[in-house]
Amino acid sequence: MPEPTALRILVVNGKGGCGKTTIATNLAAAYAHRGYPVALSDYDAQASSSQWHEQRPAQLSDIRLIASHQRTAMYTTRSYQLRVPPETQRIVIDTPSAVGDRDLDTLLRGVHAVLVPILPSSIDIRAGTRFIAQLLLHRSYRARRPPVGVIANRVRENTHSHAKLMQFLRSLNIPTVATFVDCSLYTRLAEEGTGIFEDELGAAMARETHEWNNLLRWIDGAAERGSQQALPPRAATSPRAQEPRTATDAHREAHPAGV
Ligand SMILES: Nc1ncnc2c1ncn2[C@@H]1O[C@H](COP(=O)(O)OP(=O)(O)OP(=O)(O)O)[C@@H](O)[C@H]1O
Ligand SMILES: [Mg+2]
Repeated sequence: MPEPTALRILVVNGKGGCGKTTIATNLAAAYAHRGYPVALSDYDAQASSSQWHEQRPAQLSDIRLIASHQRTAMYTTRSYQLRVPPETQRIVIDTPSAVGDRDLDTLLRGVHAVLVPILPSSIDIRAGTRFIAQLLLHRSYRARRPPVGVIANRVRENTHSHAKLMQFLRSLNIPTVATFVDCSLYTRLAEEGTGIFEDELGAAMARETHEWNNLLRWIDGAAERGSQQALPPRAATSPRAQEPRTATDAHREAHPAGV
C-alpha cells in the first residue's frame, strides 16, 4: 500500500503530447534534488517516464519507479505491484493520453493535487477544455475535489497562440500555476534522465526555474488546502448535470462556493 502521508500529484490531460511526461519527470527530479524520497508512477503503456528513469545517472538522487502500466504478474497482488517504500514523501503520477472515466476512478484515488498541462494551439485548447470538464464532473473528483492547476506548456511569448492560450486560461476559473517556455533543454533532459534543477543552467533560464519553484510551492499549498476543503460527495446529480459543458460551467458546479 502507498505510504498514506505521501503527497500524490497527478499529471493528466486527455490530449497527447502536451507535456505530461516532461512535467512528471521534472517534478520527480526536482523533489529528489530537494532530498525528498520520491516515487514516479508510470501509468502510460508507452512507458516514456520509465525510459527516462532508465537513463537516469546513478550518481543523482534516487527515484523509485512504479511501472503501474504493467499488468500484475501471476502470484502478485496489484497493491504489491504498486507499493512504494514506506518513507516515500512525494508520488508523481504520469498518465496516458487516453483516459476514460474508469481510469480517472483509479488515477484520482488519494490524489492531493492535479496538474493539467496545455499547449498553446487551438486544437490543444479545445481538447484541454473538454478534458477539464470531464475531470471536474467526474464522480471521483467531486467526492474529494483535490485542487486543480493548469500549466501552460511550450509557450513562445508574444505570439498569437500564446495570447490565445492566456485568454483561455483566464476564462477558466482554474489557476494557471506555471508557464513553461518551448525550449530544447527539455528534450535533452528527457534523453538524459535528469531534471531542470540538476542541470547547469545559464542565467537565461532563471525565469524558468522561478516558474518551477512557484509550481512546487503551489503543490504544497494545494495539498494543505485540499485537506481542509475535502467535502462529502454531493447528492446524485440530475441527468442534465452530467452532460458535458464548458470547463467553466463544470468548475462552477464542482465548486459552488467559488473555491
Ligand atoms: N516546454 C517544452 N519545451 C520543449 N519541448 C517540450 C516541452 N515540453 C515537452 N516537450 C517535448 O514535447 C514532446 C511531448 O512531450 P511529452 O512526452 O512530455 O508529452 P506527453 O503529454 O507525455 O505525451 P504523451 O501523451 O504521448 O504521453 C517531447 O518530445 C518533449 O521533449
Ligand atoms: Mg507521456
